[in-house]
Amino acid sequence: VVDNPKLCSFIMPAIIDRSPLMIAVSSGGAAPVFARLVRARLESTIPAAYGKLAQLSEHFRAQVKARFAQANDRRGFWERVLQGRIAELIFSGREAEAYAATETALAAAEPATVGEVYLVGAGPGDPDLLTFRALRLMQQADVLVYDRLVSSAILDLARRDAERIYVGKERNFHTLRQEEINRLLADLAKQGRRVCRLKGGDPFIFGRGGEEIDTLAAEGIPFQVVPGITAATGCAAYAGIPLTHRDYAQACMFVTGHLKDNSMNLNWAALCQPHQTIVIYMGLTGLDILCKELIEHGLPAVLPAALIEQGTLPQQRVFSGTLATLPSLVAGQDIRAPTLIIVGEVVRLRAKFGWYGAGQTALSPILRDR
Ligand SMILES: C[S@@+](CC[C@H](N)C(=O)[O-])C[C@H]1O[C@@H](n2cnc3c(N)ncnc32)[C@H](O)[C@@H]1O
Repeated sequence: VVDNPKLCSFIMPAIIDRSPLMIAVSSGGAAPVFARLVRARLESTIPAAYGKLAQLSEHFRAQVKARFAQANDRRGFWERVLQGRIAELIFSGREAEAYAATETALAAAEPATVGEVYLVGAGPGDPDLLTFRALRLMQQADVLVYDRLVSSAILDLARRDAERIYVGKERNFHTLRQEEINRLLADLAKQGRRVCRLKGGDPFIFGRGGEEIDTLAAEGIPFQVVPGITAATGCAAYAGIPLTHRDYAQACMFVTGHLKDNSMNLNWAALCQPHQTIVIYMGLTGLDILCKELIEHGLPAVLPAALIEQGTLPQQRVFSGTLATLPSLVAGQDIRAPTLIIVGEVVRLRAKFGWYGAGQTALSPILRDR
């Protein structure tokens, strides 16, 4: 009898089903909604593939018992299996390899110390935007290798006792050169450590993630890649700019506005197409040049454009104007990196859809009046 414990002879708990593993949450009928909330929290931190891991344990249980006479040794074996490489194989959908690796581990006299690198996208800044997988791997890694774009709020979520290695990547000031970072990851994994390489946004979007796993792949070091919310989608969402709203854009281009010899090497003809949104990473220093070139190559000077500063973070600011006005709107504003630029008719929608923080106050009068 719902909501009347006195009339009940049994209570249905909230269930987290990772068969054969089953978790029940019950408040003894006192607060069913609370039990449901706790269940939702547990659901989010216990990977769906835990059931498969439990099935693997069941499969090898008798063999492990026969192989290790001492309970301590058995426990040690299972801890290595359930928290290490074999579990990760299961979570990556590589079940056959996980079973084979367990066979090998059982046959080996000494436990193998194979490390692994997790190349993890940490999203644009707001810790709420981490994926479950990113969080789990951050909390299991022995070493954290991170750079400037990873916010302290995110680092706080990593395992407390994990070693932390800062590798910089300030603009024009890399604490470690890219090759040194690649080498570091490989060396740490070879020591048998679980390395979480935390990167801002998505590791494969202007993140040099491909280079970092290149060395690992060449040296046969296991790795996995966890996608993150890239700055373009994170900033657009938090600025209220639907990048491909179908009334305005059929395509969206991500480009880097990095300056080389004071110019931008971009395919201007491809960029300056109608019904297209352009997202420019690393474009603040070259903002003047960017807007000028876009106008010169045929985009209207009145095309809406926005600059998002420290997107998705509490201090996010959004400056909206047009290609003609954005540079002067931003000048003298003491802008702090990182910043992202969005150009296209969709920027106009921010006036209606802006929802996060105090950014609305930064709306340019030009846009408001249109
Ligand atoms: C080296 S790229 C790395 C991009 C990252 N891999 C990603 O997917 O977002 C760094 C650039 O991303 C953009 N960016 C990253 N996080 C941002 C944020 N929170 N707000 C605005 N721009 C951001 C900036 O343009 C910054 O210069």
